[in-house]
Amino acid sequence: MCKYFTAGIIKILLLTLLLSPAFVPCTAGIFKTQDTIKVSIKDTGNLQGSDTGKNQVPVKQEGTDTMNTTEVQDSVVTSLPDSVIYKKTDFTAEELIRGERLFYGLAYLGDKEFSCVICHNTTVSDTLNWNPDAFEISKKYFDKSAEDLSKVLLNPLGAKMQLVHKDLQLSAEDITLMKAFMNKFATMGMKQPKPIITNLLLLILAFVLFLISFTDLIIKKIFKNRRLNLLILSITGVFIIWILVVNAIAFGRSTGFSPDQPIKFSHAVHAGQNKTDCIYCHYTAKTSKTAGIPAGSICNNCHFLVRNGTRSGNTEIAKIIAALDSNKAVEWVRLYKVPDFVFFSHAQHVSAGEIACEDCHGDVKNTDRLSHVPDLSMGWCIDCHKTRKVNLSNEYYQRYYAEHVRLFNEGKIDSVMIAGIGGKDCGKCHY
Ligand code: HEC
Ligand code: HEC
Ligand code: HEC
Ligand code: HEC
Ligand code: HEC
Ligand code: HEC
Repeated sequence: MCKYFTAGIIKILLLTLLLSPAFVPCTAGIFKTQDTIKVSIKDTGNLQGSDTGKNQVPVKQEGTDTMNTTEVQDSVVTSLPDSVIYKKTDFTAEELIRGERLFYGLAYLGDKEFSCVICHNTTVSDTLNWNPDAFEISKKYFDKSAEDLSKVLLNPLGAKMQLVHKDLQLSAEDITLMKAFMNKFATMGMKQPKPIITNLLLLILAFVLFLISFTDLIIKKIFKNRRLNLLILSITGVFIIWILVVNAIAFGRSTGFSPDQPIKFSHAVHAGQNKTDCIYCHYTAKTSKTAGIPAGSICNNCHFLVRNGTRSGNTEIAKIIAALDSNKAVEWVRLYKVPDFVFFSHAQHVSAGEIACEDCHGDVKNTDRLSHVPDLSMGWCIDCHKTRKVNLSNEYYQRYYAEHVRLFNEGKIDSVMIAGIGGKDCGKCHY
């Protein structure tokens, strides 16, 4: 009896399965309407009705309505008002971790994707990043509330801020947790990039090998083969001497030195793009020994009006104004410096010698972040003095080097190098 019953059910099931293609159009229709409801709910939810559909308007409205009511009910039941959330001050370890993950863009937020660290770097970088780094913004907001932070993120003011912080859809809770992480970060500071194996480590390693091999050769004699010991000794010995010599020469030289400056000042923006003459800012280069770094008041000639930069927004330029307002000098980090026992004059090279700044300082015009280009060694000065011709049509030389000019005019010499007029005399460069 039972058997027949199950067999019957199976028959019916098989039959419906066979006939189901015939029902598909209607069922599909049913599903379709339901689908559109779902889709339209989502659409209106996200775009806030800006994209009102061309069809099925009634369905859509129905959908939105129900959606809204459930949403409101949900929030009433489960969460507190934003103003209360923003005031939260103690966090569990898990909440802090979520704040960190949100900042790093690792927390799952549905289809929305964002990461603060792609712009606000947390590791010290050796290239120019126009955005303020994570430490800078964390410090700036340390004494401010999570609600203040929500304002720059959700209702940004200023063209740049609107551009970079647009489309951020964060809940009050997310922002509060991120703020908690930022407060922690403000006390930790930026991470240093991972150290690479330095010459010093290699040197120590070579030295240890050298010592082991040496003691073995003389005292222990574990290796029967003396040649092996001698080989190790000579290789490590040469290596040690090579490293010491290279470092001794480079000692006190700073080629490649490219420090973080207190303001992200770019020569590419000013001397390149805006074509401001080098002399406008380094105005003593033609007339005195030093070229000089411009004071804040020079920046203010223009930044009195220009308060927003295309790349950095308002943050960097605000530092100029802040320095001026508080009567403090901007503490630029100096790149080029010859030792105290050397005499070098810009006026002599730029005015009399007619040498372009680029010849000695590299392609400044196209550089955002300057680095120390020539090594400023004595060899570098002398090389140029030995190879560079003096411009004998220069009035200055006509007067002081009349003898050279006469020989030149008579065709007895075809050129005079700087070395020929004293460019190699120790006393000219050394006090
Ligand atoms: C708008 C003003 C301005 C202009 C124009 C300008 N500079 Fe500068 N320059 C600065 C400031 C500010 C610094 C310090 C910050 C830095 O090192 O980036 C500086 C630094 C330098 C330094 C490094 C000095 C050191 O030892 O620290 C060199 C070299 C230099 N400028 C060369 C040039 C040359 C060459 C030009 C023209 C192509 C030029 N500058 C145009 C403002 C200017
Ligand atoms: C001759 C006019 C002039 C002087 C002098 C000047 N600037 Fe500027 N600076 C500009 C202009 C114009 C811009 C806007 C460039 C842009 O947005 O493309 C600018 C932009 C900037 C920016 C933002 C760059 C960006 O794109 O975000 C910084 C930072 C800056 N200047 C710093 C300085 C400092 C520091 C000094 C003084 C050493 C200085 N400026 C002197 C004209 C000047
Ligand atoms: C696309 C790059 C970008 C992303 C992503 C970004 N920011 Fe910013 N942020 C900027 C820039 C650029 C400024 C400076 C704008 C200015 O000064 O006009 C800034 C400024 C800030 C400031 C300082 C505001 C002030 O008052 O000076 C804070 C705080 C900040 N961001 C937080 C965040 C947080 C938190 C996130 C992650 C949710 C984030 N930002 C994501 C580019 C970005
Ligand atoms: C012949 C090579 C040479 C030329 C050309 C030259 N400089 Fe220099 N510059 C130097 C040396 C060397 C130093 C380091 C000087 C010192 O320590 O006193 C220096 C230093 C500087 C500094 C640091 C601050 C200071 O006053 O010493 C600035 C800024 C600078 N130069 C800008 C310029 C500009 C702008 C020009 C073009 C108008 C220029 N230099 C042309 C070799 C040169
Ligand atoms: C790119 C080429 C170049 C470099 C690099 C250079 N100089 Fe010169 N130097 C010249 C020229 C050209 C003159 C001739 C100008 C003159 O007669 O006053 C000159 C002249 C001088 C003089 C005056 C010599 C005299 O007879 O009156 C001194 C001092 C001097 N340089 C020092 C230095 C020092 C120090 C350095 C390195 C830190 C240096 N120079 C690097 C091109 C250079
Ligand atoms: C064109 C300029 C110039 C002339 C000429 C010159 N020197 Fe130098 N000398 C320098 C500079 C620049 C340095 C600094 C190099 C450095 O910082 O590494 C230097 C460094 C030195 C040092 C220190 C060692 C070192 O490398 O740091 C000695 C010693 C020295 N010079 C001796 C002499 C003697 C001797 C003469 C004459 C034969 C002479 N110099 C001519 C520019 C000159």
